[in-house]
Amino acid sequence: MGLFVLVPAAGRGERLAAGRPKQYLPLAGRPMLWHVLRALCVPAVDQVFVVLAPNDEEYARNDWSEFGARVQPLYCGGATRSESVRNGLVAASSAVLPDDWVLVHDAARPCLCTADLERLIAACAADRVGGLLAVPVCDTVKRAAEDESGLLRALGTEERASLWLAQTPQMFRAGLLVHALARAGHGATDEASAVEALGLRPRLVAGARANLKVTFPEDVALAEAILAAR
Ligand code: CTP
Ligand code: MG
Repeated sequence: MGLFVLVPAAGRGERLAAGRPKQYLPLAGRPMLWHVLRALCVPAVDQVFVVLAPNDEEYARNDWSEFGARVQPLYCGGATRSESVRNGLVAASSAVLPDDWVLVHDAARPCLCTADLERLIAACAADRVGGLLAVPVCDTVKRAAEDESGLLRALGTEERASLWLAQTPQMFRAGLLVHALARAGHGATDEASAVEALGLRPRLVAGARANLKVTFPEDVALAEAILAAR
């Protein structure tokens, strides 16, 4: 059985507002995408497909040769993350069989550690459905609404005991993923929600809070500190 990785990297990083797509932002001296690829190129992985915007010019300006032929760019990104993933699966379909495993991992999560990736692979490879890295919610969770004056107020406190935050990678068989994403359309914000919509129950594999998604400017220093500490 093959094991492939798809990295959606066709976003524009608007919330980070770094003047360039955030996957190319330097972190500890290397582009964010370099840290992502380094984390993903473990021996179990056959090939890593990086889904880029059709008009991406920065990928070709960087040197990725240390990853060799295992990393392959696909210039087929779409208008949304889920469209980029679906387009990437189509573009990779000549190499990937329906029963092969596909790990989808955001280009915006450069702090994935090898041990968590390998634990996810081991847990999912033995599973009927597949699964994802996630962390339990540790803060108290409030439901919010605006009052008559437009001020935000807490309406109540949610039961957090069974709440988890979904991360990536998310690992499913290629055939299931294609089917689930086609059914979910634009409604799915991650692969697991599309699979859940089919009535299946993805495994939750405990990951690390360090595997944050770099989204806002304040996340950059945090990611750099995590990378520097390794
Ligand atoms: N992504 C993608 N294609 C899109 C939008 C997003 O491949 N049309 C990718 C991003 O490159 C990123 C991942 O999906 O690796 C998670 O998305 P997000 O963190 O939202 O990144 P951006 O969309 O780039 O950021 P923003 O929403 O702030 O513009
Ligand atoms: Mg986005």
